[in-house]
Amino acid sequence: MLVEFYRLLSSNSSFAKRLIWKNWYQLISKKNRLPNFTFMNYGFINGINPTLDKFDESNRVFIQLYDKVLSKVSIQNKKVLEVGSGRGGGANYVAKYLKPKELIGIDISLNAVQLCNNNNQLENLNFKFGDSENIPFSENEFDVVYNIESSHCYGSRKKFTSEVCRVLKNTGYFCWADLCTVNELEEVVQFVKENNFKIIYSENITLNVLKALDEITETKETAINNFVPKIIRSTFKDFAGVKNTRVYNSFNTGQLEYHHLVAQK
Ligand SMILES: C[S@@+](CC[C@H](N)C(=O)[O-])C[C@H]1O[C@@H](n2cnc3c(N)ncnc32)[C@H](O)[C@@H]1O
Repeated sequence: MLVEFYRLLSSNSSFAKRLIWKNWYQLISKKNRLPNFTFMNYGFINGINPTLDKFDESNRVFIQLYDKVLSKVSIQNKKVLEVGSGRGGGANYVAKYLKPKELIGIDISLNAVQLCNNNNQLENLNFKFGDSENIPFSENEFDVVYNIESSHCYGSRKKFTSEVCRVLKNTGYFCWADLCTVNELEEVVQFVKENNFKIIYSENITLNVLKALDEITETKETAINNFVPKIIRSTFKDFAGVKNTRVYNSFNTGQLEYHHLVAQK
């Protein structure tokens, strides 16, 4: 169902697409639903393992996706924006380990933003309600903007890319990773170029994401069985990329891919 649903969303009106995804993530981030999950990405494994505190080990595969996406740029002492920060696990990792001067995470789900602000204990980190297509900051504010597994939800990736360009300082970096079809990747590359970004890195990381999905599948399935109402359980498993469900299978057949791109303004 998910791939059909994903296709439907991709071809549907921007308004409907935005509305459906927004409500989906509001639902996921409702109080007490999957309370221990502070990440909502598919993860990444490539054999390079960042050193983590014991506390963060259980989130290693999700953290590794953040580490990979930000591996080409320097974050230390920079002003950084995450668009689509979800339940905040990634932003917490970045703020704690990569030590930006200031990191702001924005998300269109108010439930997610509230959850993040309730859990946040770091001084260089803040979360705020915000829309990728109308980023609530002024021109030339950030050194780095990053976006992980969120842009497939947007009504217009074109508008999003021009917003990223607007809030980035000159020579600032845009680090992006998401699932997409081959055609959608071409569109993203086109939008990036239209905004006069220079692409400095591009990689198909589908196999690394599949490895992570394999490793985490049992934990995800158990959590979904324990916390998600039966009626929406199988949809949740599809979205979570549980092994042998539809998104997972689409990565295997090549219907969907997962890409990482870094561009400089
Ligand atoms: C799959 S989650 C990924 C969250 C996080 N990046 C992570 O890796 O854990 C996608 C997130 O994008 C957010 N999102 C969807 N549409 C958005 C929009 N138009 N503007 C900002 N955030 C949006 C959702 O609310 C959700 O929290």
